[in-house]
Amino acid sequence: MQKNLLIVYHSKGGKNAAMAKAVLAGANHPDIDVAVRFLSAYDANEKDLLWADGIVFGTPENFGYMSGALKDFFDRTFYEVEGKVDATPYSVFIGTGNDGQGALSSVRRICIGYKFKEVQDPILVAGELSESDLQRCEELGMSMAAGLEAGIF
Ligand SMILES: Cc1cc2nc3c(=O)[nH]c(=O)nc-3n(C[C@H](O)[C@H](O)[C@H](O)COP(=O)(O)O)c2cc1C
Repeated sequence: MQKNLLIVYHSKGGKNAAMAKAVLAGANHPDIDVAVRFLSAYDANEKDLLWADGIVFGTPENFGYMSGALKDFFDRTFYEVEGKVDATPYSVFIGTGNDGQGALSSVRRICIGYKFKEVQDPILVAGELSESDLQRCEELGMSMAAGLEAGIF
């Protein structure tokens, strides 16, 4: 059966949006047959989590934490999916000003609460976004999709 990959991200200034689009491009690789939902954290809800066989989260770091939009997504969905999404594989990308560790650790901490399983190294881009960063994001999307399709997570 076809597997489902959910990409949920927030971006105010465009950096994480560009990273998210690169992840999407990788996930939509023509040789990989996986259904993909690409949603702003504001638009995603618990139904998307229940649909997903794998998830990629993307967020800037704001005030040493994940963006409020992604936190709101988690706040809105936790009780609705608790116990129904155990061991869902996920990965995370973070585009920040100069740090990103607070965003990364806060996403990881919350994902432990959901019992999600981190299956790829995170991508953290502080400062200017380069072509090679976008390439890494594309590879992340591709490996998440390929891993789901192959059932290796
Ligand atoms: C309100 C606010 C708080 C921020 N706090 C941090 C921070 O704590 N650490 C950091 O590295 N960057 C911080 N930044 C910078 C953003 O993470 C950075 O500009 C990021 O690339 C924005 O992503 P976006 O273009 O996808 O919105 C902050 C930006 C804003 C607007």
